[in-house]
Amino acid sequence: MARVRTAVFVSGSGSNLQALIDAAENPDYPAQIALVVSNKKEAYALERARNANIPVTVIENEQEAQLAMQEHNIELICLAGFMKILSADFVNAWSMKILNIHPSLLPAHRGLHAQQQALDDGVKFSGCTVHFVTPEMDAGPIIVQAIVPVLPEDTSEILAKRILVQEHKCYPLALKLVAADKVSVAKDAVKIQQPHLMDGFMMNPVD
Ligand code: GRF
Repeated sequence: MARVRTAVFVSGSGSNLQALIDAAENPDYPAQIALVVSNKKEAYALERARNANIPVTVIENEQEAQLAMQEHNIELICLAGFMKILSADFVNAWSMKILNIHPSLLPAHRGLHAQQQALDDGVKFSGCTVHFVTPEMDAGPIIVQAIVPVLPEDTSEILAKRILVQEHKCYPLALKLVAADKVSVAKDAVKIQQPHLMDGFMMNPVD
């Protein structure tokens, strides 16, 4: 089986990149992490890529990114803590081929400081979302979400850590579904073939 050649775009610590690298170590995983792209040369994520023998490239602009995609025959892009907004031109050239992970239950709490936004709004649940990237920020079709309770003593750092644990499960699953061609988009909503669906409900606080 030809694995889908995937580039991961990073700017920071790269814990989501690591989750994708670890998942792709399984030869049955349908995507291969073929390139890591960073706009920050000091990003720790680059260290993770080098440790896994994955080629890295540091870019200064989108033109360089586009060239790197061609050079490495990239078919899918995962944004994982990439702190630069991609232009509509770039996104449209890769329509439904770019995934992003965001630390909230979209469409709530788009943009920066999503965990603090959740605390400020007093929601009892937050979580994370993997979605396709469209020109409007954090607004594309949703592929996978996980929910995480918000607890009374939470700071944004504590909540971020609890959400990250779920991010590391959601992103490998979302990439697997997309790379295996199990995902289609109709009227801005994602449909997944043969999903294992969650049943029931969760309450926070518990009675
Ligand atoms: C994650 O919280 C992700 O949702 C957001 O940026 C953070 C990246 O963390 N987009 P890491 O670099 O993957 O550790």
